[in-house]
Amino acid sequence: MARILMVTPEASPFAKTGGLGDVLGSLPAALAARGEDVAVLLPRYRIAHVSGLDRIRHAMPVSMGPHRFSVDVDLVMHRGVRYLFLDCPPLYDRAGIYNEGGWDYADNHIRFGLLNRAALEIARNIFRPDVFHSHDWQAGLLPLYLRSTLAGDPTFLGLKCILTIHNLGYQGNFPPGAMYDLGIDPSLYHPEGIEFYGRISFLKAGVVWADTVTTVSPTYAREIQTPEFGFGFDGLLRSRAYKLAGILNGVDYEEWDPRRDPNIPAHYWIDDLAGKAECKRELLAELGLPQREDRPLIGIVSRFAHQKGFDLLGGIGAPLAEENLAFAVLGSGEAAIEDMFRRFAYLHPGKFGVRIGYDNGLAHRIEAGSDMFLMPSRYEPSGLSQMYSLRYGTLPIVRATGGLEDSVDDETGFKFRDYAPAALLAAIQKAAGAFEDRQTWQSRMRRAMLKDFSWNASAARYQDLYRS
Ligand code: ADP
Ligand code: GLC
Repeated sequence: MARILMVTPEASPFAKTGGLGDVLGSLPAALAARGEDVAVLLPRYRIAHVSGLDRIRHAMPVSMGPHRFSVDVDLVMHRGVRYLFLDCPPLYDRAGIYNEGGWDYADNHIRFGLLNRAALEIARNIFRPDVFHSHDWQAGLLPLYLRSTLAGDPTFLGLKCILTIHNLGYQGNFPPGAMYDLGIDPSLYHPEGIEFYGRISFLKAGVVWADTVTTVSPTYAREIQTPEFGFGFDGLLRSRAYKLAGILNGVDYEEWDPRRDPNIPAHYWIDDLAGKAECKRELLAELGLPQREDRPLIGIVSRFAHQKGFDLLGGIGAPLAEENLAFAVLGSGEAAIEDMFRRFAYLHPGKFGVRIGYDNGLAHRIEAGSDMFLMPSRYEPSGLSQMYSLRYGTLPIVRATGGLEDSVDDETGFKFRDYAPAALLAAIQKAAGAFEDRQTWQSRMRRAMLKDFSWNASAARYQDLYRS
């Protein structure tokens, strides 16, 4: 049994903006079920949906550079895992997690710097791990503090640290002056250290100082070593290839299962797909689309970020509207993408059912009620939504990149390679053509539903890492 302290900015169901939250809500439980002793540390945001907290530490002092904080630590047991909440109201009791009104909080380096410093004090006073497991840039400073600031501290002798990169597009870069607030020795400001193009980078600190770096699919682990996907990190990652591994995410079939999902109007499984037709009818009604069962319905549930590739749809709205299909769209984010979908809904009524916003229940109903699920990502470290789609018999149409490449095959979905509108249109047309042959389609659905992307295999890979 290993003792693992995960440090993360998100964990479902407490705080989630995307797949990172899902992973931290399910991987720890999978590890606990396999006998590991896991604790997860995250900030106690105002929006954190927690009840039944126990305050296990009151007024614990944590210092960082010139700052002295007094933090409380709250505990909640969830699926056999200790979730520890770092309570520091001046930093976390705010309306947003990372930003408000479109603006990142100006003190995010302090907010997440403290998360890392506090993790080390928690290791000293509350839960001593064998391994620290940091997730994304928000936890990237921990290896630096461990290996430099606290290098001489006997408490931490022999502790190892792992960094998992869920998305290289988010690096936590700040002006060099932030080092003062963070208590980082200015001598670490150089290209082999924390310096990154004239700034400091939390994620780079993690890559440089962690014992092992992982990312969330084997293909993405290769891609990020190339200039196209490396966001300026490719050289660094190539030089650290010896300690870099790709482990595909798993998904949580407790939450995503068409046999018992409480968010969907009817349940179904491979032996009886009638419930799925019912889900489609209800979804069409919910989105105000005509009841056309013969016409394929393509689902989209996504953050609307540059990463997700929806700009590819921009130029092909009209040809798509001519096809015999309809779209069920849920998402929010960049204004240009929101407006594109609003425009489609206005120009092509009856073809585009669009909801701008964040709605977990509707996300489930789109997964269940659609025939196909679209993810044309520019890059996709792992992607979870396509794995949910497979389980719901909703065949994914994806760009062959990152985890999409690793989880979808030609029997269970439709892939295109070129990042080009014509390639996307061709993939959609191919899927629509295949949908005509109902019998073959249903056997593809069954094959997709039986694919197993539960955490079993991937949790075992993390265990191997902890052991090594
Ligand atoms: P990413 O983490 O890059 O956003 P993933 O595919 O890994 O992509 O995970 C996305 C998760 O966020 C899924 O659980 C998906 O259902 C959820 N999600 C994304 N956008 C929305 C939305 N607008 N409403 C509800 N859930 C959403
Ligand atoms: C990031 C990635 C997504 C991945 C998720 C969880 O948000 O964009 O591909 O599934 O992290 O690892």
